[in-house]
Amino acid sequence: MSGASEEGLDPRSIARELDDLGALVGWPLSIALETASTNDDARRAATAGAPHGAAFLADSQTRGRGRGSHVWHSPPGENLYLSLLLRPAVAASRIAPLALCAGLAVARTVDAILAPGAPRPRIKWPNDVLVEGRKLAGVLVEAQLRGREVSSVVVGVGLNVATVRFPADLATRATSLALLGAASLSRSVLAARLLAELGRVAAAFQADGLGPFVAELTARDALRGRAIEVGGVRGVGEGIDADGFLLVRDPAGVVHPVGSGEVRVVDPSGIGP
Ligand code: BTN
Repeated sequence: MSGASEEGLDPRSIARELDDLGALVGWPLSIALETASTNDDARRAATAGAPHGAAFLADSQTRGRGRGSHVWHSPPGENLYLSLLLRPAVAASRIAPLALCAGLAVARTVDAILAPGAPRPRIKWPNDVLVEGRKLAGVLVEAQLRGREVSSVVVGVGLNVATVRFPADLATRATSLALLGAASLSRSVLAARLLAELGRVAAAFQADGLGPFVAELTARDALRGRAIEVGGVRGVGEGIDADGFLLVRDPAGVVHPVGSGEVRVVDPSGIGP
């Protein structure tokens, strides 16, 4: 359910805003009223030869996907569902941390419209953007490989904008810009700002890897100092390293770099503010 009367996604406003922002991506731009999944749209387009920077948005998704087998709640008229197709010159073995950069792009975009003093967006490794422990956005990065090279990568972002009532299973875990009292912006302007930021972080990541992002990731790390369990390792979140590994310090003081897995927060205080 929406907290605001929302106009539709407008290709002209998005294009104008992208231009004003000097965005490096967002062309060509494709907007569907309804689609199964914008990530699927982008992947199909990649196979058909679409260029670096092509963007795929939809007003609603019928089969929006998250990591694993998760469904992404994608009602019409309320939120942002977008996928950006990139063709970065990055080895397949180095592409995974792009999800963290995309999370930072979301966090930066949202930061700019939250009231001063409001709780800031944080990153829950590897792909969630949280505010006060609730999920505001999710990132789904899917790479298409050619041998050891990345032939294309799709960066999918779902950002909860205007939803004020989530389905029961999400009600205590999700939040939205409307619920956070963020400045109200049209989804078109928001989409353009997010695409522009995604373009900037993708370019920086291609040039220099994750290193330049580590300080900001540390500042925004929702798991730092929390008791967590991931991939059979139980301990305390110690940060994220320059290769994108989650560092977990076990009770014996050994730090384990974890490359993949679903993190369970076992800290009784959760990952709230
Ligand atoms: C997650 O939190 O597990 C990732 C969620 C990613 C959702 C977005 S919505 C746009 C794009 N299309 C999809 O089907 N998924 C991503």
